[in-house]
Amino acid sequence: MSEMRIDILTLFPDTVYAVLHESIIGRAAKKGAVEINCVQIRDYTDNKQNQVDDYPYGGGWGCVMMAQPLKSCLDSVMATAAGRRSRVIYLTPQGQPYTQETAKRLARDYDHLVLICGHYEGVDERFIDSCVDEEISLGDFVLTGGEIAAMAVADSVCRLVPGVLADEQCYIGESHWDGLLEYPQYTRPEIWEGREVPQVLLGGDHEKVEKWRRKQQFIRTREKRPDLFENFTPATESDRKLFEEVGRDRNRISLSAPVTCRAAEEEDLSAILSIVDEARASLKRLRVDQWQGPYPGEEHFRFDLERGECFVVLHGEEIAAFFTLSEREEKSYDGLTDGKWTPELPGCVLHRCAVAGKYRGSGIAEKLMRFADERALAMGFKCIRTDTHRKNKPMQRLLRACGYRYRGNLTVTVEPGHDTARQGYEKIIKVRR
Ligand SMILES: C[S@@+](CC[C@H](N)C(=O)[O-])C[C@H]1O[C@@H](n2cnc3c(N)ncnc32)[C@H](O)[C@@H]1O
Repeated sequence: MSEMRIDILTLFPDTVYAVLHESIIGRAAKKGAVEINCVQIRDYTDNKQNQVDDYPYGGGWGCVMMAQPLKSCLDSVMATAAGRRSRVIYLTPQGQPYTQETAKRLARDYDHLVLICGHYEGVDERFIDSCVDEEISLGDFVLTGGEIAAMAVADSVCRLVPGVLADEQCYIGESHWDGLLEYPQYTRPEIWEGREVPQVLLGGDHEKVEKWRRKQQFIRTREKRPDLFENFTPATESDRKLFEEVGRDRNRISLSAPVTCRAAEEEDLSAILSIVDEARASLKRLRVDQWQGPYPGEEHFRFDLERGECFVVLHGEEIAAFFTLSEREEKSYDGLTDGKWTPELPGCVLHRCAVAGKYRGSGIAEKLMRFADERALAMGFKCIRTDTHRKNKPMQRLLRACGYRYRGNLTVTVEPGHDTARQGYEKIIKVRR
């Protein structure tokens, strides 16, 4: 018994059969890894004229495929598929858009697909209601018949069936396998019309090639399919780094206008809150559970605004970042363990701060830190203390790059179920003479 049997119910079985019995799928069928049958719906009519369609009730253009020939055709196919895990699929522009995930699911969960190709204005709705398990669309456009869609489904499912391709590595890592597009491919000659193959592919260093290819997947997905890139969830530490790095590169905009800082105002609240949303999403991608609950919300920023402790960093007129600098002591900082704050040095506290997504990597974060230094000095402090989530590596990197030193560990009060561990950092501001 073949690993996968596909029965395509169609008015054009010869055409479909010919296409699906070429090349790789054709060879797989010859080997018996897959079985593809193309069945003529017209052979199952119960009228003398072998009529498969009729005028639509209610009037209107075109004809509709009748339920009876489709049902008789389906019954005869199903009668020979006992013991198989079958799925009856109608190809229709009204179905769920077809994706690689659908192909994977069909190859994994079934070993018998019945693909029904409509024509004319479609098929009698009662047949769909009573016999179809799933409706699939090739995309948001209308074809004259379901054959092209059925061939696309059959081809993409069959190539995932064991024994069809030489190795599963042939499809793992291809475009859409894990939500990214594939890296660029090259073959001989090394130089074609003055264009060279990237050097890394010629050096023979397998590890370097793998790294380069993975990074290219991120870059081209970001460029060609930003929708996929935004929805990609990295599963490994190295992917997480690449995702942030490539995402940052994209966002790297040049600061063409003056960057300034001023106390935040009521009207700035919505811009601040949308930066919080972006930061929240970015932390989620990094699997840092900081800011994953309602904190920080509008009430916290209103509190900061009332006390004149919230500041916005502007690129020209646009709010690019914000921070809160507070004179009030932070109670949880008394419980620092594994280290200590610089004794007898009063410090202000840098709280909530974030940079808008499009400004990440632009140098705004470093400018924010300098503005915080200036504000602290203006408030009469030579020291700033802050804390960050122990897994928030980008923030830790930024703090260290801006002169902060790790001083020990803290426990903060957060929403139940969230990580309470933080790292305490401190900066003693050097005053330029
Ligand atoms: C002209 S279409 C009928 C479209 C139908 N009247 C409607 O507007 O939804 C004829 C047949 O082509 C097939 N078809 C058309 N577009 C398709 C698509 N995007 N995906 C899958 N099948 C499609 C379906 O089997 C459909 O029954």
